[in-house]
Amino acid sequence: MKIILTGIQPSGTLHLGNYFGAMQPALDLARHGQAVYFIADYHALTSVTKAEDLRRYTFEVAAGFLACGLDPAKTILFRQSDVPQVHELAWLLSVVTPMGLLERAHSYKDKVAQGAETSHGLFAYPVLMAADILLYNSDLVPVGKDQKQHLEIARDVAQKFNDRFGPVFKLPEPVIREATAIVPGVDGRKMSKSYGNTIPLFGDEKEIKKPVMGIKTDSTPIDQPKQLEGTVLGQLMQAVHPEEYNNFLAQGATPGVGYGDLKKKLLTEIQTRFAPFQEKYRHYQAHPYEVETILREGAIRARALALPVLEKARQATGLSK
Ligand code: ADP
Ligand code: TRP
Repeated sequence: MKIILTGIQPSGTLHLGNYFGAMQPALDLARHGQAVYFIADYHALTSVTKAEDLRRYTFEVAAGFLACGLDPAKTILFRQSDVPQVHELAWLLSVVTPMGLLERAHSYKDKVAQGAETSHGLFAYPVLMAADILLYNSDLVPVGKDQKQHLEIARDVAQKFNDRFGPVFKLPEPVIREATAIVPGVDGRKMSKSYGNTIPLFGDEKEIKKPVMGIKTDSTPIDQPKQLEGTVLGQLMQAVHPEEYNNFLAQGATPGVGYGDLKKKLLTEIQTRFAPFQEKYRHYQAHPYEVETILREGAIRARALALPVLEKARQATGLSK
């Protein structure tokens, strides 16, 4: 059975963009092999600076996945830092990783260009990511487009290690989500926590209503037909309830229907679609220990996959007899 592995950074509160862009595709793909999904808390430390935030986001991602239908009996769900052996492998990989490979990494260069304070952690980020992937003998690694180069680095590093020390690692295949439409935020830019334009996945009524009612629209008067295709309202409806999309366009084209009515309609669809997930999420909020138990059991299963691979790498390098 193929190992399908991906990591999700607990770096902010989950929003609709995360759901449609990353969580839903990961949940779909989990049916096609042994899914190994982890919460990349070590990686998130490159951007999250407060301990309580990291704890909260880690819980939110774990509970969020479970609430949205991840089956912990089938999928191995764990916290990256519960298998700290990944750092030993990261070191073994770092000795074969050329500096130039990391210096060319777009995500690092972008952060530098944005004037972010750089750190060794940010620079070495792709090596840790390669270790995540190789430690679990992954076959398929689903990621967003922005992570494509990190996958190439992981393959390069695996090949370099194999060339130097012998055939230890399987080269992972990326599964790049090209087709996923970018979910727009309420201001029309990509929905992203860094733009503050998100609709939260597990917000309460008020937290969801506020951004939805604030969606940017044009100033077409109420008695004129509104063209919703390609607008934020239209695209969000298409993501949330595709079967309802054409009706929604028709409603928009009906004179007398205002943007306020259309936003209320979208709000209802969001609430209806996510109500069952919300309910499960509230359950986990009230019973955080259940989430913790699932993560710990996941870590035991993850370690069972990881230890033989690490041992093989240790032997190949001469660290182990
Ligand atoms: P943010 O942009 O809010 O910081 P992240 O980069 O943490 O979100 O997102 C994690 C994953 O969620 C990304 O790799 C991407 O696949 C998906 N994602 C985030 N925002 C969107 C969006 N607006 N549309 C589609 N997918 C998204
Ligand atoms: N860097 C990934 C992201 O930001 C998260 C991640 C960490 C990951 N380790 C990974 C993804 C290993 C896939 C495989 O989205």
